[in-house]
Amino acid sequence: MIWRLLFELVLRRVDAETAHRLGTRTLDVVLGSRWARRLARRALAPRDPVLRVRALGLDFPSPLGLAAGFDKEAAHVDALTALGFGFVEIGTVTAQPQPGNPRPRMFRLPADRALVNRMGFNNAGAQAAAARLARARDPGVVVGVNIGKTKLAEDAAADYRASAQALAPHADYLVINVSSPNTPGLRDLQAVAQLEPLIVAVREGLAAAGHTVPLLVKIAPDLADEDIDAVAELALRTRLDGIVATNTTISRAGLRSTAEGIAGAGAGGLSGAPLAERSLAVLLRLRARLGDELVIVSVGGVESATDVATRLAAGATLVQAYTAFVYGGPLWPSRVQRGLARQLHDAGSNRAADDR
Ligand code: FNR
Repeated sequence: MIWRLLFELVLRRVDAETAHRLGTRTLDVVLGSRWARRLARRALAPRDPVLRVRALGLDFPSPLGLAAGFDKEAAHVDALTALGFGFVEIGTVTAQPQPGNPRPRMFRLPADRALVNRMGFNNAGAQAAAARLARARDPGVVVGVNIGKTKLAEDAAADYRASAQALAPHADYLVINVSSPNTPGLRDLQAVAQLEPLIVAVREGLAAAGHTVPLLVKIAPDLADEDIDAVAELALRTRLDGIVATNTTISRAGLRSTAEGIAGAGAGGLSGAPLAERSLAVLLRLRARLGDELVIVSVGGVESATDVATRLAAGATLVQAYTAFVYGGPLWPSRVQRGLARQLHDAGSNRAADDR
């Protein structure tokens, strides 16, 4: 209620990226101290054992995490988990620091409960993120690290390898992001002929540096079904630990927003409610191809406890969201966790997902 009012009166009227900054600054002020986070955790964080998931060799207090892109610099992981996320995927981090695209580069389409962004991997680079992650975290906080290609890097494999080596010591899992629409040529790396050498290069880099960390790949919803099958087959062959599906879409089909609103946002990746149907279809397809093996992190258009339960029932091991958190406000994660626990109990289930 208070969030609705704040959203309508203030946040909706300012540029989306400025609103994001305001939101995260407030979070830092309110949950900046350990005791404040302890209080928040007690009230908001998932504690029901039915929500626990064991996957990737890790214990997740809940299957619902925050998707990549919200905390690009690993600056808010303790506060975000205190609000009730079971884990946070930070990034995308690139090997070199880079400014991203010119602003404005993030837009709201409220009629669709959607966002359009063309941030372009603005971040301070792998070394800075590694230094942040090296600082002590609150106990039990699970952090995945999402890595992408530096825009100006010519050797993609070397760039990903450098990020992986810098960040693996501080990551609970690592995601190779080849699916952002905002770095030219990035999504071409999803083709098996390019993806396989990339996975091999990252693996070799990790082995050379003496790191072992679960490795996943994040894919786009715009892949054709045959390409999804090819990625699944590659994931099994190369013994990846999992697939994150999906990133944002370049499609603008079926939106309710006005043509001016859509044109005003311009190019970039669309996230939120309009992504749900395709994201669920990709999940079902992947699980059918992968059998019981591999972790699938389902993301795209998840807005409610029922959505999370649907993804888990469709074969997701873990679920993430970003856009619904922006529209739903700071109490959204805790609300969804509680709803999910209730639904699982009502269904007679004793856990959210099988161990993987
Ligand atoms: C994103 N997303 C994203 N993904 C990623 O792998 N690396 C990134 O840096 C970003 N950045 C980013 C910025 C903004 C503003 C948004 C809205 C999204 C994609 C995100 O992690 C997720 O895959 C999609 O947004 C779909 O989930 P939702 O938002 O529909 O829950």
